[in-house]
Amino acid sequence: MELGEPIYVGKAKSIYKTDKEDELISLFRNDMTAFNGVKKDSFAGKGAYNAAVSAFFFDYLEKNGVKTHFIKMLDDHTMLVKKLDMIPLEVIARNVAAGSIVKKLPFKEGQILNPPVIVTDYKDDERGDPSVNDDLIVALGLVTRDELAEIKEITHKINKLLYDFFDELGLIFVDFKIEFGKCGGEIILGDEISMDSMRLWDKVTKESFDKDVYRFDKGDVMTAYAKVVEKIMNWQKENVK
Ligand SMILES: Nc1ncnc2c1ncn2[C@@H]1O[C@H](COP(=O)(O)OP(=O)(O)O)[C@@H](O)[C@H]1O
Ligand SMILES: [Mg+2]
Repeated sequence: MELGEPIYVGKAKSIYKTDKEDELISLFRNDMTAFNGVKKDSFAGKGAYNAAVSAFFFDYLEKNGVKTHFIKMLDDHTMLVKKLDMIPLEVIARNVAAGSIVKKLPFKEGQILNPPVIVTDYKDDERGDPSVNDDLIVALGLVTRDELAEIKEITHKINKLLYDFFDELGLIFVDFKIEFGKCGGEIILGDEISMDSMRLWDKVTKESFDKDVYRFDKGDVMTAYAKVVEKIMNWQKENVK
C-alpha cells in the first residue's frame, strides 16, 4: 500500500492522513521498545500480530457497546480509524499487582486487586509519563470531571469484558493500558489493545505472554505473541459463526 509521509511516528505505530478529513491510517510497525524507548528491537510479524489482536478486541468491544475508533483493516498490519482528538492520558487498569505498582508501592507481585484499580499517567515521554490524579487532570485541562468519570466507567467495563474473555482462554488479564480521544464531543477508545499494552499470565504456570517477555528477556517474545493470537483465533472459530 502506498501511504506517503506519516504525520506522526510513534514508538510502535505510524499515523497517516487519508483522503477523508475525519479518518486516519494506523500502521502497526515491527518495532518493539521498552523502558521508555531505552531498549529497542524489531521483530518480523510483530506489527501484524498486534494489529490483528487490536482489531479483534475493537470489534469485540463494539459488539458489547463500547465505542472505538476502529473502522476496518486495510491489510494485515494497517488499520483505518476514526480521527480522534487524543486525550494525553494513559489509562491503566490493574487486576493483579505487577510491574511499576510493585516497585512504587508495598504490593506483592501477583497480589490480587479486587476491586480492580484504575490509575492515570500523563502521556509525555520527555517527562517519563508521570502519574496524575483526578485534580491534576482537571487542573491541566485534559478533561472535565464528568468526562474523567466516564473514562473510568468505560475502562472498568472494558476491563471486565477482557478479564472474562481471557479467563476463558486460560489466561489472567493482569493489567492493561488504553488511550481515549474525543470526536464530536464523545469519548471514544483509540490507539490499540495488544500484547504490547497489557500483561497476560498463564493461569496455572503464571508464565508471561506479553511484552514482559521482551522487557525481561523471559524467552522468545514472538512465540509468546503467536500463542495469544492462536488462542484468540481458535476462540473466534468456535464462537463467531
Ligand atoms: N484515532 C486516533 N486519532 C488520532 N491519534 C491517534 C488515534 N489513535 C491513536 N492515536 C495516537 O497515535 C499514536 C500511535 O503511535 P504509538 O507508536 O503508539 O505512539 P507513542 O509512542 O506516542 O505511544 C499515539 O500517539 C496515539 O495517541
Ligand atoms: Mg503508544
